[in-house]
Amino acid sequence: MTRLSNHVRSSVGGKVVMALSGLGLVFYVVIHMLGNLQIFEGAPTLNGYAAFLRDMPILLWIVRAGLLSLVVLHIVLAIRLTVRNRRARPVAYAARKYRQASFASRTMAVSGLLLALFILFHLLHLTAGVIDPLAIDRLDVEGHRDVYGKIVRAFQNPFIVVLYVVGQVGLGLHLNHAVTSSLQTLGLEYAAFNHLFKAAGPTVALLVVLGNIVIVLAVFLGIVHG
Ligand code: HEM
Repeated sequence: MTRLSNHVRSSVGGKVVMALSGLGLVFYVVIHMLGNLQIFEGAPTLNGYAAFLRDMPILLWIVRAGLLSLVVLHIVLAIRLTVRNRRARPVAYAARKYRQASFASRTMAVSGLLLALFILFHLLHLTAGVIDPLAIDRLDVEGHRDVYGKIVRAFQNPFIVVLYVVGQVGLGLHLNHAVTSSLQTLGLEYAAFNHLFKAAGPTVALLVVLGNIVIVLAVFLGIVHG
């Protein structure tokens, strides 16, 4: 136990845990997007899927607790890493390399902050119904929670559309760098796979951002409607 906590406290251990927690969160984001894309199949499919998830309350709360722990761990380690990097600013670092590294970490800090704000807004909006009190869970004709109707109502509002698109920009920028860098941190940087890892970040970022934005715009443009 002490060896494990010492390892996490070390810079390398911290980076490994950050990479693992980040990849766990990416996995959730991809599954969430695939689930939400069922909106194109119509209300019965999406609402049936949401009901299926809610019908397993123990699993739901285990996943929620797991997600929250991953987010907290990831943010705490990110802050610690940033502080340590600042303190250890190397004097004899090659100027160009230093500029690249600090640009990447600044981008990660800004996109990470944007993403955290988006997630907070998103939870208050579509899970807690605080932003739009009329977005509370209604029931559809089959007696399921009308998640489909909630999403349609949300993205008919141009203000909400802009906020979600900005949130996706934060998500895309963060994933673009994070996925590649996590794979490299985990020691998977074998020469043969390096091109694959470099491509993984931009590919995952693009797919997730496009998948999410397609939902938002399809509703806004009336392609998906109530
Ligand atoms: C346009 C894109 C998105 C749509 C349409 C969407 C839709 C939704 C909806 C409808 C809910 C509530 C589900 C329910 O009431 O059963 C929800 C919950 C949630 N969303 Fe999203 N979401 C999107 C993007 C994201 C992104 C990018 C993230 C994370 C980075 C995210 C994280 C979450 C989380 C953590 C929850 C709470 C899940 C729970 O209640 O257990 N969502 N989302």
